[in-house]
Amino acid sequence: MSLPTEHKVWVLANPPAAYVQPDTFALETRALPPVADDQVLVKIKYLSNDPIVRTLISAAIPRGGTIATSGLAEVVASKSAAYAPGDLVSGRFDWGDYAVVPATALTGKAIELPGKPYASLSVLGLGSLTAYFGVFDQLKVAADDVVVVSSAAGSVGSAAIQFAKHVAGAKRVVGIAGGADKCAWVKSLGADDCIDYKSPDFRERLAAAVPDKIDKVFENVGGEVLDTILPLMKPHGQIAVCGLLSSYNGQQQVFNNLLQVISLRIDVRGFTVMDFVPRWAETAQKVAQFVKDGKVSATDTETVVTATVDEIPQTWALLFTGKSRGKLLTQLE
Ligand SMILES: NC(=O)c1ccc[n+]([C@@H]2O[C@H](COP(=O)([O-])OP(=O)(O)OC[C@H]3O[C@@H](n4cnc5c(N)ncnc54)[C@H](OP(=O)(O)O)[C@@H]3O)[C@@H](O)[C@H]2O)c1
Repeated sequence: MSLPTEHKVWVLANPPAAYVQPDTFALETRALPPVADDQVLVKIKYLSNDPIVRTLISAAIPRGGTIATSGLAEVVASKSAAYAPGDLVSGRFDWGDYAVVPATALTGKAIELPGKPYASLSVLGLGSLTAYFGVFDQLKVAADDVVVVSSAAGSVGSAAIQFAKHVAGAKRVVGIAGGADKCAWVKSLGADDCIDYKSPDFRERLAAAVPDKIDKVFENVGGEVLDTILPLMKPHGQIAVCGLLSSYNGQQQVFNNLLQVISLRIDVRGFTVMDFVPRWAETAQKVAQFVKDGKVSATDTETVVTATVDEIPQTWALLFTGKSRGKLLTQLE
């Protein structure tokens, strides 16, 4: 079989002020270098879709820069003793089709679960690990806690709901998500209740769902959702700020209830999964054990969209439409 000599790769062309536009990214065809010693040629099979890319294209990636993300790829040719053609390997790959990478840049062979070759991007992926560190290291969720999780039907949120309820054993876990179907799914994962933040009586319904007030919040959204939560906190409650999805596309963060942080002595603390890199591998094994023990679901916990390389940006942008549930993955044709 002859090896490809060119590959396609997406670059940032025009950073957007708000939502991404058709000209935000551009697809380039570039020459593929020959495979050198200790390198592998891979064909990218799955890409993780992460909201952080929206902030990176405004703040960190230069014009003409590539868009790197977690992914899974099949080894096509190898000059590394560690990998053979046919291996499914995980690592960070640019949005594109093929890549030549040093074997040392790969994270290893993919951890697969039955029927889920992409498990190391979804239930065992960075979203789940982020949820783990937020629930156990930041919030230290315990049995007598009332916990609220926003974007509860997303990748991080759906894992956080399950860790808080089925592993930490919190007495009440309430999700916040967009729409009745997503809320029904969040409840099927173990949440005691789930409130649709798009409903006109969101504030009243959330208040009714936490009659004893809230001890701990796993915050993925910010903005109006967080503003609604603040007056419902217990004194000395904790908020672990994982993400601020509501402002990634240029929206302002507006708070009317920020004074509650002082009145209620609320502990608001940000965290990032990057603080825990040395523990990623052991934590993925722990989460795999939770799956085996039936504490965390690996069934139907991702939205896998089959796409061509030309459709990578538009598939990623589905994150901001509410059309995905659980982890949004791109499966490249
Ligand atoms: N700190 C870290 O290390 C770290 C690591 C990973 C992720 N994160 C953050 O964690 C959060 C969740 O990440 P994820 O990967 O699990 O994404 P996600 O929650 O799966 O993101 C997609 C979902 O976000 C919701 N959403 C989109 N736009 C929204 C808006 N304007 N207001 C409210 N909800 C909106 C939609 O769900 P609905 O239909 O329910 O609205 C959508 O389906 C993000 O803020 C991300 O940046 C942080």
